[in-house]
Amino acid sequence: MSDLPDQTVIQAHAEVIRGLEPFARENLSLLKSVEESWQPSDVLPDMTGEGWPEAVARLRQQARAVPDGLLVVLVGNTVTEEALPAYQTMLNRHPGVTDATGASEDGWALWTRGWTAEENRHGEILSRYLYLTGRVDLRAVEVTTQHLLRNGFDPGTGNDTYRGLVYTSFQERATKISHGNTARLANESGDPLLGKICALVTGDESRHEEAYKRFVSKIFEVDPSGAMVAFAEMMRHVVAMPARRMSDGGEGLFDRFSAVAQRIGVYTARDYAEIIEHLVGLWNVRALTGLTSAGAEAQEYLGKLADRYRALAERAAARPLPKRAERFSWLFGRSC
Ligand SMILES: [Fe+2]
Ligand SMILES: [Fe+2]
Repeated sequence: MSDLPDQTVIQAHAEVIRGLEPFARENLSLLKSVEESWQPSDVLPDMTGEGWPEAVARLRQQARAVPDGLLVVLVGNTVTEEALPAYQTMLNRHPGVTDATGASEDGWALWTRGWTAEENRHGEILSRYLYLTGRVDLRAVEVTTQHLLRNGFDPGTGNDTYRGLVYTSFQERATKISHGNTARLANESGDPLLGKICALVTGDESRHEEAYKRFVSKIFEVDPSGAMVAFAEMMRHVVAMPARRMSDGGEGLFDRFSAVAQRIGVYTARDYAEIIEHLVGLWNVRALTGLTSAGAEAQEYLGKLADRYRALAERAAARPLPKRAERFSWLFGRSC
């Protein structure tokens, strides 16, 4: 784990974040109103309508074209989305953005609840799709979600709100990339409905990514050295994926899921390097001046980081892929 900040730093950062409450409020426009939001029912077969058997049959027919590897990644993404209570809890652990009552009108609290309300549709639509396909062992999937929620998730921010917002910037971009690639592969394999579902989710993740990045941009404006150090500290260890502690009762499930995601190109080491480069560029990390010595040290570290990860990714890509197929309870014990 990276060096976690002490309470004095955490409280000083919380003060800055409190000062940015009006900025959080301004950016509520990146959320959509309920009226203009898509809902899972807009896309999935209408079970009250006349033609529901045909609609379900069509869905199942198209879903047969989805290869096992893509199905595994889709299940992993679904489980990740279904663990949303862990992520709302995470945000509320960070001082300055905490929703003090659970129904607070504070700008940060409004953001967190609005964000959660949009995210909640992701697990819902993906789970319902998986249910209707008849292609996965739904009980094994549900067991995985229950385990993940019980096991919890530590993003490694030490409850420092600067680090928390760096984490969410990184993570929303990562999920955008992952759902976006899943959409593309679904379309290519012949399931346009799944392509559409994943594209809708990608659109949400993209707005969320934009918001969290703006929040951190603002922190860079008001406290450049603090922001720089927080960014660097979050990057000193591999960014923890939210579903890292997923389990279906056995061992190593997340690693097997990640191996498939890497193999089929849904989320790869290259994507990881790209996200770092994107954030370093966006936050103008290399060009900032007037930093404290800790800030300058962090800047030096961050400036070279994407190249380091890119070199690692290229080296990994040059190695032959492991032949071993991964076994999944989600696929009734089949390997892929
Ligand atoms: Fe999501
Ligand atoms: Fe998200």
